[in-house]
This record gives sequence, structure tokens and C-alpha cells, in this order.
Amino acid sequence: MLKAVSARLNVRTLVGLAALLIVGPSPAQAGQQERSQRPYPALQREPGDAEIVARGRAVYGISCRACHGVDLRGGDLGGPNLLRSGLVLRDDRGDLMGPVIRDGQTGVGGSAMPPQNLSEDDLHAVVEYVHDVLGTASRQGGPPPGEEVALDILVGDAAAGEAYFADKCAPCHSPTGDLEGIATRIDTPKELQDTWVRGGARNAERPPITVTVTEAPGNRVSGQLERLNDFLVVLTDADGRHRSFSRRGDTPLVEVDDPMGAHRDMLPLYGDADIHNVTAYLVTLQ
Ligand code: HEC
Ligand code: HEC
Repeated sequence: MLKAVSARLNVRTLVGLAALLIVGPSPAQAGQQERSQRPYPALQREPGDAEIVARGRAVYGISCRACHGVDLRGGDLGGPNLLRSGLVLRDDRGDLMGPVIRDGQTGVGGSAMPPQNLSEDDLHAVVEYVHDVLGTASRQGGPPPGEEVALDILVGDAAAGEAYFADKCAPCHSPTGDLEGIATRIDTPKELQDTWVRGGARNAERPPITVTVTEAPGNRVSGQLERLNDFLVVLTDADGRHRSFSRRGDTPLVEVDDPMGAHRDMLPLYGDADIHNVTAYLVTLQ
């Protein structure tokens, strides 16, 4: 209890300090915007090294858990859900998470994360751990292994969920079309919630992300996206050949088509109430 109070005070003090120091967006925030178009490396990576992940889990328990929760879905001291963070999803080996952890971050609503004083090794390990949990959660829809966490699933307002659905989901889905009877097909609210947030069943085949690279008018190459960063795009074409192109700014033109893009782009936009409301509504689609 005492510990919690002093942590709060600490955050307040740091918010004050940060307000004095920060004028305009930090370089980290600017970089984050520039890179907001990138696909989600977090969801495409190989599982991390087990030893580093274990070390990261320990670091997380000490330095992050009080604020971000035992299962990374948000905690008592106001840290946001890291599994739905666009920044975390776009992070590639700490390039976006690292600066936040090192320097802290102040949000629009005045919420703030104080800088975390970690060694480079511990920082690297905790980043690997977050990716490991994210990878597990997106593969299996479940919380990370470890302590069981009771989730309040059915606390939402179905009418509010219906309105939200009409606004945000109806362009692609219909309660009397593709989602008819979804709550009968998926009869546990938790699994139903994970399915709609993720945009697919637990082990569903993900439709592949395709990319078209145009080097010159009339010279277009399309295929399945393997890798994309600021300098390089790699794809596998229809004949199974890997093709790789270096990038400089907008040259060549790279167009990515991710069928699940809408679901991923929405992840950081949901508030907890939206999630509960939509789930409560979908449960009525029997
Ligand atoms: C005292 C509470 C606190 C601690 C400790 C803390 N965080 Fe945070 N964290 C926050 C808050 C609050 C935010 C949101 C800040 C904002 O609104 O931009 C945040 C934001 C983040 C973000 C950015 C999320 C986004 O989408 O912008 C990441 C990544 C993150 N924290 C990771 C960590 C990791 C890893 C640790 C441990 C090494 C940690 N945090 C420790 C409170 C905390
Ligand atoms: C821009 C289009 C788009 C929007 C907007 C969208 N989705 Fe989806 N959704 C998809 C696609 C594509 C799939 C994958 C379908 C597939 O693989 O057959 C999907 C899958 C799903 C599934 C899994 C369906 C199943 O049968 O297992 C659910 C549930 C779902 N979405 C709910 C929602 C909800 C709730 C919203 C609004 C908060 C939403 N979607 C917004 C495109 C969209």
C-alpha cells in the first residue's frame, strides 16, 4: 500500500519535471510517427532466446509489472495495456520501446511513465520478453504463462457495444451475415473477446500480407511480404523466388496490402470500455 502511494507521488513529480523539460514532440515521438506506416514486426518474429526471455520476465516483474500488470494488459498504477500498444506492435528489437523505457513518456492525458534505469542487457531482455508474450498471445490468444489472472469479461453494456459495432465494424461485418451466431460458435466470452480483438480464431490461418514494388512504370513485382524496413523490402514471388529491393525514401514505390490491417490498426484505439461493450454485444449474437 505504502509502496503504491510513493510510486504515485513519484509519477506526479516526474510528470511535473517532464512538463518543464518537454517542449513539443520528443524525437522518439517524431520517429514513431514516421514509422507509423510500417507493418507489425512484433507479430512476425521468431520466438526469442529462452534464457533472455526468462531474464526479461524477471526484469518485468521488478520494473514494469506494478504499472503494466502481471499479464501486460494494464495494471494498478495506470500503465496501459502493452499487448494492444501500436508502438509495441511496430517495435523491432527495441527501436521504439527502448527510448520509452530509457527516457519515459508523457501522454496527452497527463499519464506518464518515468524513465526506467536499466542496464542495456536488462533493457534488451525486457523488450524480448514483451515480444515473447505478444507472440504467444497473438498465436494463442491467451495471457502469458504464469499466474492466472481473473478477467472481467462480461461487464460491458451490450447496447453501447451495438452502437460501436455499427460505427466501426459494420463496414466489414454484419450481425446477420458473417457474424451471425458467432456466440454459439464461440461459446466462452473470453475466447469470443480474443477472437474479435485479434480478428480470427485461435489457430486460424492468417491471410498473407502481400506487397507490390514498382521500380519504374510498367515494372511491378508482387508477392508475399517477407520483410520491410526503411532500407529494404523482401518478398517471395509467385514462383517462390525471394526478391529483395533496397529502398531510399519513396523509391521504389512499395504498396502493402494486409487483409488484417484494419484489425491491427484498431488495436491501439480501443479503450477497455469499448472492448467490454463490444464483447457484451457479440455475446447476444446467438
Ligand atoms: C510508474 C508506472 C510505470 C512503470 C514502472 C513502467 N511504465 Fe511503461 N508506461 C506507463 C504509463 C503511464 C505509460 C503511458 C504513457 C503515455 O501516456 O504516453 C507507459 C507507456 C509504456 C510504453 C509505450 C506504450 C505506448 O503505446 O505508447 C511502453 C512500451 C512501456 N510503457 C513499457 C514499459 C516497460 C517495459 C517497463 C519496465 C521496464 C515500464 N513500461 C515501466 C507507466 C509505467
Ligand atoms: C476493414 C475491414 C474490417 C473492420 C473494420 C473490422 N474487421 Fe473484423 N475482420 C476483418 C477481416 C478481413 C477478418 C478475417 C476474416 C477471415 O479471415 O475470413 C476479420 C475477422 C473478424 C472476426 C473473426 C470472424 C470469425 O468468423 O472467426 C471477428 C469476430 C471480427 N472480425 C470482429 C470485428 C469487430 C467486432 C470489429 C469492430 C470493432 C471488426 N471486426 C472490424 C475485417 C474487418
